[in-house]
Amino acid sequence: MGPPEIKYKQLFINNEFVNSVSGKIFPTINPSTGEKICDVQEGDKADVDIAVNAAKDAFKLGSPWRSMDASKRAFYLLKLAELLKRDKEYLASLETLDNGLIIAGSRSCVDRAVGLLHYYAGWADKITGKTIPIDGSFFCYTRYEPKGVVAAVTPWNAPIVVMARKMATALACGNTVVLKPAEQTPLTALYLASLIKEAGFPPGVVNVVPGYGPTAGAALSEHMDVDVITFTGSVEVGKLIQQASGKSNLKHVCLELGGKSPNVVFADADLDYAVETSHRALFTHSGQICIAGSRTFVQEDIYDEFVKKSTERAKKRVVGDPYNDKSESGPVIDEVQVTRILGMIESGKEEGAKLQCGGIRTDCKGNFIESTVFSDVTDDMKIAREEIFGPVQQILKFKTLDEVIERANNTSYGLAAAVITKDIDKALTMANSVRAGVVWVNTYSVLDPRAPFGGYKMSGIGREGGEESLLEFSEIKTVVIKIPQKNS
Ligand code: NAI
Ligand code: MG
Repeated sequence: MGPPEIKYKQLFINNEFVNSVSGKIFPTINPSTGEKICDVQEGDKADVDIAVNAAKDAFKLGSPWRSMDASKRAFYLLKLAELLKRDKEYLASLETLDNGLIIAGSRSCVDRAVGLLHYYAGWADKITGKTIPIDGSFFCYTRYEPKGVVAAVTPWNAPIVVMARKMATALACGNTVVLKPAEQTPLTALYLASLIKEAGFPPGVVNVVPGYGPTAGAALSEHMDVDVITFTGSVEVGKLIQQASGKSNLKHVCLELGGKSPNVVFADADLDYAVETSHRALFTHSGQICIAGSRTFVQEDIYDEFVKKSTERAKKRVVGDPYNDKSESGPVIDEVQVTRILGMIESGKEEGAKLQCGGIRTDCKGNFIESTVFSDVTDDMKIAREEIFGPVQQILKFKTLDEVIERANNTSYGLAAAVITKDIDKALTMANSVRAGVVWVNTYSVLDPRAPFGGYKMSGIGREGGEESLLEFSEIKTVVIKIPQKNS
């Protein structure tokens, strides 16, 4: 399969592709080769102002979008899902080109996006309030109303899925959207924009402004007319976004900020299954996933054997051209991440962890890093505390259930956790004790549009997915109507 043709490189505002006000452009790079794919128009504050205005106009009472029946909103979301299905191969190929995910992974990302659109289309006309028997002679009811203009700032690691999740929820609730994709991966967002138009959404309902974080992203988080900002990315930027909200209009902030997720393997587990599950929990997409099982805790009786088998597995992992069906992982996203990941590997070595395999950039022109396994990792090491976001597995040893609960929770993060055991008591005790938004038992990475997803502690604020996330994008209005009392 050859690289796909690039069709859209401009901003998308009011259903038109336009150049940026400044006329500036920025390159997007193919992580598999280090070469430029193309230049894209670079949005900044002036463009954000125009896009937010378009979204605000599209949200006005009486506008086509605000007047539309909820069931019709569902229709448009389903139409968009159909177009994604139609163009699945193209979209998957574009994603792989821009972010380096293996092609099978990109295909399943498109499937997940379609699933999210279907699920939230289903909600569009089922978001109902209550009637409440308040004291006195009143009729009291609640209604859910859209919050207004939603800014979505998305990362490079899973662009299609994260965009679809944020957009589908915001639109199902009746909001309008300004999306800023990550500067590393603007291409699938722009193609999605063309599908928004083709699906027939009214102008201004979805706008896409590619550009950099500190410029376009910051302009959205500071904007007085943005009502919600939904963000996925680093803790550092999550904090900046929350501060910007506090300094501007107190816009609602919804954050998904990654983690340092514990994956706890008890000695009673099926060893080969545990090794493979833990391997995939970390190495999928070269470790560049927020839920990566990046602290593998293994009970002492099976520790040595587990390390040995995990090392053999990692050595066998095929890292290479993401378009090749044999590859299990592609490159990491960019030079910045290569440097960061190699720096983390150095710190692991310096702090006394045992490098079992990998640890180097492979001899390629792209951003390829060998699958790396560290054993003898202790809780105080940097590699056990900080998100690496790369193909580096940390294997830690534990003795008892109580000890591992305490250590699993000894982190500022709380996105995901897993436990692998045949003992139901251990499984349930872990599931109830770990402070994380999702806990998997004898599996990993199972995410579904129907189930809420989000972080405890510094892994984020709010929930995406499920019925719960409708609350992030809706205001609840209470209406109280006096009922005349009959005297006779
Ligand atoms: P980042 O948090 O800087 O980027 C994510 C998004 O935020 C991008 O769209 C970026 O343009 C935007 N952004 C950056 N600065 C901004 C600002 N001041 N205001 C508003 N928006 C801004 O993440 P980056 O630098 O790409 O990766 C650094 C680390 O973040 C990774 O190594 C990883 O640990 C973590 N990360 C976590 C992700 C997750 O899924 N939770 C996704 C991507 C990165
Ligand atoms: Mg950054």
